[in-house]
Amino acid sequence: MTWNHRHLLDLQSLSASEITSILDTARSFKTINERAVKRVPPLRGKTVVNLFVEPSTRTRISFELAALRLSADVINFTAESSSLKKGETLKDTLQNLEALNADFIILRHHASGAPHFLSRFAKAHIVNAGDGAHEHPTQGLLDAFTIRERKGRIDGLKVTILGDILYSRVARSNIWALLKLGAEVTLAGPSTLVPLVFQQWGCRVTWDLRKALEGADVVNLLRIQHERQRVTMFPNLGEYTALFGLNSQRMSWVKPDALIMHPGPINRGVEIESDVADGGQSVILEQVNNGLAVRMAVLFLLNGGRAPEALDAGPKNNARSLDEASPPK
Ligand code: CP
Repeated sequence: MTWNHRHLLDLQSLSASEITSILDTARSFKTINERAVKRVPPLRGKTVVNLFVEPSTRTRISFELAALRLSADVINFTAESSSLKKGETLKDTLQNLEALNADFIILRHHASGAPHFLSRFAKAHIVNAGDGAHEHPTQGLLDAFTIRERKGRIDGLKVTILGDILYSRVARSNIWALLKLGAEVTLAGPSTLVPLVFQQWGCRVTWDLRKALEGADVVNLLRIQHERQRVTMFPNLGEYTALFGLNSQRMSWVKPDALIMHPGPINRGVEIESDVADGGQSVILEQVNNGLAVRMAVLFLLNGGRAPEALDAGPKNNARSLDEASPPK
């Protein structure tokens, strides 16, 4: 299958088969990442710019590594040390980066819709690396990838997303991907952070932690997004932890084979206790590892690569087939 999109802006607008195609391609890249020689040539001669206007550890580094593994040149752009601080607009910044032959712009921005705005006039491929409280599509993809890899399927699974749903772009991308792939999604947390309007998306909403945890195949925890909350949504963090924090005692409400997930950064002792974050059911670091393969797949497909049969030629032929799979633009 060839990817028909110029940009990756959200998961809401992708079909189940398009999402599955990205996950299948990522599975092939994961095998490449397990080899001694991890570099393949599909993005040779291309320039990837990480344009991060908000802080990031996992997303920025894994996009950088993904681009390097695909043989691209990589530029890391941080807003603090750029001419954005002197009043240059985002559009002018994009056009200057394109004048320097940027082929991909990986954008993280505090404004919801910023990647969609750039995509209206961009010549480069725009990849949304998190826009405000709107979406974080590669996080949604890597979470879906991790669930499918661990559970063998997504269809029919019960997935609980627990925490600050209202302000979470991770929650929105997870909801779109998981519902399209057939999961039953429960949203849980304080009523001020989990509004009933999400029922209209097809999610179950509960403000009862025990009901949210019992029977779930996957529990995905979210941190409180303080940077996006304009008013205090609950009395204090201590009360949040007392009512909704996941600790070892509450793990007795969770199925023994349920996956404990978190997109990071985790706030130990707030939404999750250390013995749960580091416990046997936690797949938090696997999510980070899978993010690399997913981001390689996204860059590869946007560049015109074919998924996933071109990657199935086997280790010996893989570099060659990957090269052929990426027609020059
Ligand atoms: N999950 C996530 O987006 O983490 P970073 O903010 O560190 O990129």
